[in-house]
Amino acid sequence: MTTLADAEALIATIPDFPEPGIQFKDISPLLADPAALAVVIDAVVEPFRGRFDVVAGIEARGFMLAGAVAIAAGVGMVPIRKAGKLPRPAASVSYDLEYGRATIEMSSDLPAGARVLLVDDILATGGTLVAGQRLIAELGYELAGTAVLMELDGLGGRDVVGDVHSLFRI
Ligand code: PRP
Ligand code: MG
Repeated sequence: MTTLADAEALIATIPDFPEPGIQFKDISPLLADPAALAVVIDAVVEPFRGRFDVVAGIEARGFMLAGAVAIAAGVGMVPIRKAGKLPRPAASVSYDLEYGRATIEMSSDLPAGARVLLVDDILATGGTLVAGQRLIAELGYELAGTAVLMELDGLGGRDVVGDVHSLFRI
């Protein structure tokens, strides 16, 4: 039986990508393994099962998980996209990156008060997830939870994001 530890072992560390000094965590081998993908998606959903109406995934790597989470939970999926990609954005939030700023947007196609599970691949500084949480709040939805595959230790992300469910700490 494939365990979460087996799944974690499939995450590859790529040195010096996309820039010198960065250790890139590549989840592609995990995603390509059907048993590892199934165990990971189930573990993302587990604490929130029955407590959310829809999954929101953050472009781009959050999309890799959000559709699978939605199917596993029997709910729908909403894309949170980088600025300029949605035809009918209802809210925009800008946030700081290591160099510069980014903006993400969300449409308002859900019923008022919908319970949204926010999903992304990795928590680093937390800027991206906090921006996602703000979009959900600004549109009048309820944040049912925040979940990531992995959490980078030592960057303070958990302090700004608040309660976050992460499967792997790296
Ligand atoms: C990466 C990653 C998370 C975010 C985490 O996304 O997929 O979304 O950074 O960093 P933070 O916690 O410091 O905000 P990125 O913006 O690089 O783009 P991508 O998902 O489109 O690859
Ligand atoms: Mg991302």
